[in-house]
Amino acid sequence: MFKSRILGAGHYVPERIVTNEELSQMMNTSNEWIVERTGIQERRWFTPGVDTVTNMSAKASRMAMERAKVSPKEIDFIIFATITSDYFLPGNGVLLQRELGLTSIGALDIRNACSGFIYALSVADQFIKTGMYKKILVVGAEIQSSALDKSDEGRSSAVIFADGAGAVVVGRVESDQPGILSTHLHAEGAHAEELYCIAPSSSGEVRISKELIDRGDFFLKMNGNAVFKHAVVRFMEVIQEALDFNGINKEEIDLLVPHQANLRISQYIQQKLQLPDEKVFNNIMYLGNTTAGTIPIALSQAWEQGRLKEGDLVCLAAFGSGFAWASALLRW
Ligand code: UT7
Repeated sequence: MFKSRILGAGHYVPERIVTNEELSQMMNTSNEWIVERTGIQERRWFTPGVDTVTNMSAKASRMAMERAKVSPKEIDFIIFATITSDYFLPGNGVLLQRELGLTSIGALDIRNACSGFIYALSVADQFIKTGMYKKILVVGAEIQSSALDKSDEGRSSAVIFADGAGAVVVGRVESDQPGILSTHLHAEGAHAEELYCIAPSSSGEVRISKELIDRGDFFLKMNGNAVFKHAVVRFMEVIQEALDFNGINKEEIDLLVPHQANLRISQYIQQKLQLPDEKVFNNIMYLGNTTAGTIPIALSQAWEQGRLKEGDLVCLAAFGSGFAWASALLRW
């Protein structure tokens, strides 16, 4: 049996910085409210005609491959997590494959929103452990800002969500090497409508219509309170599940990388686990919530900042639309 290991991580965020002040001019909100309730000071939004999910993810992927010292030709599979693909179909996996100049390798699309990257990492881990693939590009990338209702009605989501891309190369290593210890995936579809986007939908007579646009069905809709309440419970459960599965104490965690949903959620988990500040990675203050992008972007930045060293015990955890939640425990 083989083991899989993250060999390198990369990221890309759009150049356009959107401050809380700028949002206050679009909707009835304020810097004070946003900072106090979410911890976000600014975020990145894409520029139409410049950034796409495909070209952002290609930049993140090239950085990840360079850091992993893996050439594009060595990649034998792509797993792409996004809920904001450039096309309704095909998914972004094949578009990234083409952009990177790779031919005929398989490309799988994952649509588990904020938990998408950990779901994707888990699939990569299984493929590598069974010997099917040797080097897999795992990507999480989103353009959320075009789905935001930037009026007063949509303000609770509009201040949180943002755009960006992250990628890792997952490779096969011998079983005595550091690498992924376990992944844990969960979902509860009973709450699907607490955080969702209806359109374009295949179950209407047409997928886009004036009525649909007038109703705002293409906007992301979130019941922030309900999501928050479930998130704090599920984050803790799924982190504990990973620790118990491996017989590891929370004190042994070197770096917790939570999905960047809201700084208050990360701080709640940190406090429950009694982890010091240096053991929790947060970048939501500057990048907002990039859904499937948050964890690979965070891994890339944590590595750049020297906060990830060989052999470190790293815990990843996410919760979001679905609801779907997940964790992974790994040795860097
Ligand atoms: O990543 C995927 C998962 N997503 C999440 O994990 C997000 C989880 N939820 C949250 O982060 C929070 O629920 C929000 C940040 C979205 C909202 O914060 P909250 O502390 O739960 O606020 P609330 O929804 O309870 O609203 C409190 C008040 C309301 O006004 P009233 O009814 O008390 O008069 C809202 O209308 O704050 C108002 N409000 C705002 N005010 C200024 C909501 N959004 C805003 C805003 N600016 N942007």
